[in-house]
Amino acid sequence: MSVENVLDTENLRKSYAVPGRPQFFAVNDVSMSIAPGEIYAFLGPNGAGKTTTIKMVSGLLEPSTGTVRIAGLDPFSDRRALAQLGTVLEGNRNLYWRMTCHENLLYFGVLKGMSFADARARSRALLERFSLTGKRNAQVQALSRGMQQKLAIAVALMHRPRLLLLDEPTLGLDAHASIEVTAMIRDLIADGVSILLTTHQLDVAQALAHRVAIMSSGRIVKEARMADLLAEYAKNVYEIQLADEMCPERVRVLEASYTVSYSNQCLQLACDADGLYEALSIIRPAQVQSVRRHQSDLTSIFIALTQEGAPANA
Ligand SMILES: Nc1ncnc2c1ncn2[C@@H]1O[C@H](COP(=O)(O)OP(=O)(O)OP(=O)(O)O)[C@@H](O)[C@H]1O
Ligand SMILES: [Mg+2]
Repeated sequence: MSVENVLDTENLRKSYAVPGRPQFFAVNDVSMSIAPGEIYAFLGPNGAGKTTTIKMVSGLLEPSTGTVRIAGLDPFSDRRALAQLGTVLEGNRNLYWRMTCHENLLYFGVLKGMSFADARARSRALLERFSLTGKRNAQVQALSRGMQQKLAIAVALMHRPRLLLLDEPTLGLDAHASIEVTAMIRDLIADGVSILLTTHQLDVAQALAHRVAIMSSGRIVKEARMADLLAEYAKNVYEIQLADEMCPERVRVLEASYTVSYSNQCLQLACDADGLYEALSIIRPAQVQSVRRHQSDLTSIFIALTQEGAPANA
């Protein structure tokens, strides 16, 4: 645990009494840290315990055991911790639907301790920043889902928190709105805000996150820097595109030494880098157009780590 971190949790657990089950831990021994300016993606299948963790981090749900520290402060005993925190929970209950955009921003800003004048100025700036100025006086219920979500994030940012908790921020948004909200989240990093993000849209997580934790059945089964995770699971499969057909004898020579498939002037070859050079010498004189190494994407890694029987804490 470090006071420099915006968030530290240690050994967080939450158990619920479930009839017929001895002791059910929705969250089981979760420890994580988020540094300033970091986007941390918190992923896992339905029911993994992501929302329960976010609620404990945000001071809404008391942990059964373990600790939460926001910028070194305990959200359950020190109100200053909550001043560092903005939360957008999953679903659409983050806003008052019969109030206007401006009224929501003002209300939540003042609730977080801002002066009325500061809240007004901040509301104007956030509406401008998120292209909602034209909707300033529109009731939330009249906005599109994408606009509502942007407003919910703006409301959470009113009091200038250092840590933003976003639970499924792109859920239910169309492709345009999803791209807009994703870009918005990325921009926040320039302001020095750290973000704990849960999402089922793994492409969004892959595009945004510096680090990722994958949760399954209440536990973190993998935690890594995004780039390291992708590199660790990158398969050594090369795709070699040729400019013309390869002669069948040479394909057979390759087949004798490699796991290989060949069709439509394209070879798929499983080997290490040395093997690739040897294979290229066999492939010659066919002309090589491109060589590409397959990268595992986050989706395939996620499935491998969260399927039944996957080793915990891999
Ligand atoms: N109040 C509660 N009482 C009993 N069990 C609960 C309660 N809240 C959550 N759970 C259970 O805890 C587990 C984790 O739920 P949680 O909502 O944290 O999952 P999640 O990872 O956010 O899932 P999703 O991706 O579906 O949003 C689930 O099995 C859920 O049924
Ligand atoms: Mg959830």
